[in-house]
Amino acid sequence: MKKLMAANWKMYKTWDQAVDTAEGLVGLTADKLPDDREVLVFPPFTALKGVAQALSADGFSAGGQDYYIDQEGAFTGEISPMMLKDAGAAYGLTGHSERRHVLGETDEFVGQKTAYGLECGLKVVLCVGEKIDERKSGKVEEVLEHQLRVGLKDVPRDVAPDRLSIAYEPVWAIGTGEVAGPGEIVDAHTFVRKILVSVFGEKGNEMRILYGGSVKPANCGEIIALDNVDGVLVGGASLESESFSQIVLA
Ligand code: 13P
Repeated sequence: MKKLMAANWKMYKTWDQAVDTAEGLVGLTADKLPDDREVLVFPPFTALKGVAQALSADGFSAGGQDYYIDQEGAFTGEISPMMLKDAGAAYGLTGHSERRHVLGETDEFVGQKTAYGLECGLKVVLCVGEKIDERKSGKVEEVLEHQLRVGLKDVPRDVAPDRLSIAYEPVWAIGTGEVAGPGEIVDAHTFVRKILVSVFGEKGNEMRILYGGSVKPANCGEIIALDNVDGVLVGGASLESESFSQIVLA
């Protein structure tokens, strides 16, 4: 299983800035990228095509940060999996905490998007994670199990395992500098693995589970070596090619 080193650029970067960063990243990593690593960048939609072109080297791909659950239609402001693929995206992201908690997406809607993206031929990274009050009240597993079972409800049980990844992103660790501890990461990832196996059988062991939340060059090596950590999803530290390249090669 290749480790998936993913960058989520959120609502940052114009076209030129995004293409520059993507080209810089390829320049710093392409000839050193180990065979067991894959690099993925989720730029803003407006820069997707340019970034996908810049990431045309082997082992690199681009993805869309979001999409709607239809191919086309009267859905002002939305974008479809077909359009993402047309712009060069191989992946789509669903369930990010900012979409759940800032933009009000429900677990059910996240589940519809996850299944629809896969049906349309995207690979999908489904994000899950608890808020700090949920962790403090001992509800981590309950929250993760609900987000996963609802989020995966309509995903075909025979989906190819390399097409579906889960990103565990505790909400309290996103953008805060407060990275989850190794024990917290291993416990959550082990639990996610258990649910994946209960949903998909043995194939659940071949699906990647990424960690996200204040990953930096200084902590990535330790995180990526933990049990059941098959990659990372990085926000702030992925915005500069130098810093993300250190993470990719950590
Ligand atoms: P930070 O790496 O900035 O904490 O963001 C994590 C994240 O939300 C990635 O999707």
